[in-house]
Amino acid sequence: MTIKSILFFSLVILLVSCKENTESKMAYIAKLELKKHEEHPGKKLMETHCYVCHNPSDSHEKRLAPPMIAIKKHYIDKETTKEAFTKAVLTWIENPNIEDAKMYGAVRRFGVMPKQSFLEEDIKQIADYLYDNEIDQPAWFNEHFNEMKSPRQK
Ligand code: HEC
Repeated sequence: MTIKSILFFSLVILLVSCKENTESKMAYIAKLELKKHEEHPGKKLMETHCYVCHNPSDSHEKRLAPPMIAIKKHYIDKETTKEAFTKAVLTWIENPNIEDAKMYGAVRRFGVMPKQSFLEEDIKQIADYLYDNEIDQPAWFNEHFNEMKSPRQK
């Protein structure tokens, strides 16, 4: 092989590999785009495991537990990090009990949440979803929440 042909083949190989590289990059970007539009897995997990009791659509009278939006508002304020929130939810799920409950009104009305076993990974996904996303809220919620927060009430 002459020097010229060696150079020629190297150039061809270089060009082909560049093209492949760009193609795989494009495929990667397309996959990321697709992922953005997919639903967060925590949403489905929450609807399956928690909405039996915490769904936003039951009326105020017929509920078994507060809607998730109420939990989110009690557990997250401006300073709460996602890590702290996730840890609080995990701790609660691990051992729901009256001393640790933050939602006294709900405990009074519904009794303490029954202990159930969930996968830690699922709870982390649910907490991640709850922290980052707007949660559906029932029509009656705002009025009720402000009522519960007013100092006239205990
Ligand atoms: C069988 C009904 C039921 C299911 C299912 C359920 N919960 Fe609850 N949960 C309750 C009730 C009732 C309360 C309100 C009383 C209380 O705070 O303990 C509650 C309260 C909570 C609280 C607030 C506790 C407090 O007072 O500080 C969190 C957090 C919570 N639930 C998370 C979850 C998550 C996450 C899921 C799904 C993985 C879930 N719950 C599934 C019944 C349920």
